[in-house]
Amino acid sequence: MRIVVTGGSGDLGGRVVRVLRARGHEAVSASRRSGVDLSTGAGLEAVLDGADAVVHAAGSYVKPQSVDVAGARRIGESLSRLGSAAHVVSISIVGADLTHYPLYRAKVDSETALEVAGVPATIVRATQFHPVAALVGGAPRVGPVAFRLGDMRIQPVDIDWVAERLADHVTGPTPSGFTRATDLAGPTAYDLSTISALIAAHDGRKPPRMVRVPPIGGVMRGFSEGNNLPRPDVETGGKTFEEWLDAQPRPLPRAMHTAI
Ligand SMILES: NC(=O)c1ccc[n+]([C@@H]2O[C@H](COP(=O)([O-])OP(=O)(O)OC[C@H]3O[C@@H](n4cnc5c(N)ncnc54)[C@H](OP(=O)(O)O)[C@@H]3O)[C@@H](O)[C@H]2O)c1
Repeated sequence: MRIVVTGGSGDLGGRVVRVLRARGHEAVSASRRSGVDLSTGAGLEAVLDGADAVVHAAGSYVKPQSVDVAGARRIGESLSRLGSAAHVVSISIVGADLTHYPLYRAKVDSETALEVAGVPATIVRATQFHPVAALVGGAPRVGPVAFRLGDMRIQPVDIDWVAERLADHVTGPTPSGFTRATDLAGPTAYDLSTISALIAAHDGRKPPRMVRVPPIGGVMRGFSEGNNLPRPDVETGGKTFEEWLDAQPRPLPRAMHTAI
């Protein structure tokens, strides 16, 4: 199959490209680095021409409305103009509809954009990737003290496994319309004190003293109450946070905490 992967130069999309190629497919990366800009539409229709399927894994944490959302809308419009029935598999975030955090709102908007476009589409929502868990659980530290947001827990997921599951969906049967796949999450949920202690142990430091910051406002309260956690019917798999951490450099590079 010829499969276009938006954001094929990114953390997730790059893995999807490698998995698809290893399975014998022609995977074509579409991002600014290869001349495709989802925020303007430049180069998009040309790369989609002749595609059997699309994985929409491009995203911007800074401008999600112009990349994630406008990108989804433009993919749908381009496929319709081309008369293509290509299956679009798009990555989203577990609990995106439960919180008003701008990135999460954008993920819901990008789901809706594909639904409105009327193309065969599968939305795959995943929990936070392991580096995000490291960021949320490990970064806010002042000397021996670290801060945790309310009672927030996180069930992070292995990016490699998410890439495999996206590849499974995009090479599987094409749905007749808009669908949502079973959500994806890693095997274990952690409170932020545990994540912080695991990172400290990995780095060979004493675990910090955790101070609970009370959630202020709806967004923080939502995270504290577990809006980011999967429901019981989730599909779990991939490496645990401990297994991922074990494979990282020691100490965990600061860039790892701030990458996303
Ligand atoms: N991180 C998480 O915990 C998590 C959890 C669930 C879902 N997700 C979703 O997973 C997706 C991928 O995340 P990631 O961590 O792989 O992100 P990433 O590493 O930051 O990659 C983003 C990709 O988007 C491309 N891109 C950015 N602006 C673009 C534009 N204007 N036009 C075309 N391409 C553009 C980038 O390539 P160029 O720079 O070459 O344009 C890059 O390939 C995102 O949609 C994110 O919301 C993330």
